[in-house]
Amino acid sequence: MTSIGHLERHEPIGIFDSGIGGLSILRALRTQLPQEDFVYIADNAHAPYGERSDDYVIARSRAIVQRLRGEHSIKLLVIACNTATAAAIDLLRAEHPDLPVVGVEPALKPAAAISRTGRVGVMATRGTLASARFCALQAGICAQAPTRFVLQACDGLADAIERGDQPAVQALCASYTQAMAPFGAQAGQIDTLVLGCTHYPFAQHELTALLGPQVRIIEPGPAVALQTQRLLQAAGQINTEGAGSVRLLSTGAIALRATGCQVSPQRPC
Ligand code: DGL
Repeated sequence: MTSIGHLERHEPIGIFDSGIGGLSILRALRTQLPQEDFVYIADNAHAPYGERSDDYVIARSRAIVQRLRGEHSIKLLVIACNTATAAAIDLLRAEHPDLPVVGVEPALKPAAAISRTGRVGVMATRGTLASARFCALQAGICAQAPTRFVLQACDGLADAIERGDQPAVQALCASYTQAMAPFGAQAGQIDTLVLGCTHYPFAQHELTALLGPQVRIIEPGPAVALQTQRLLQAAGQINTEGAGSVRLLSTGAIALRATGCQVSPQRPC
């Protein structure tokens, strides 16, 4: 007889973002958990989230989770979006106490640990940087280590990446990094840059070209994947028998030049 635990192990992991950004997290998840099945929803009919109100992001997060649970019977949820994590993770955990939830936050702690100059740049959405969750995270790290975080809200950058608009991506990366400068390995310079939005790894090439190889760029995918693995292991729900599949869904039309993936446009939710 098949046990309930066995059945749950074979259920998919749900993952969502406002758009294609969360594919940077999905990439790390698939490397770490190659036998799991994933259902990814890109809520691109309602993107970007980063310049919207908390109420809007909460309402969208609720609708997506309802769909992932109702139609795909997920065993774990990954919120592959810093903005939605900041606005909605506490609420989603309270509303779904039986569902393990992993979120994504700007990687301030690892950045502070590796920075030699003690100056760390953080690029994120306006919503993430203004959130109480981000303020608490930053205050907690500053209380332990004397790090100076240089924060930059990057209006329009996630949207430009979403549209696959390379000239706009390049221009925005140039103007935001210029606003945070100086970058480099000398005292007083930013030597570590945190990508606090899951879209931004798709602009890593442009950022490295602007900042040079001595600036370390940190993206959160591998840490999120490890945390997901830990939670599944603790619940005895790692799938060790699956072939590992991905179902990509979206709420609107999608441009995927930046990622090289295919997504099927779906009905709205
Ligand atoms: N990718 C998301 C994040 O990590 C949101 C980008 C947006 O929709 O503004 O914050």
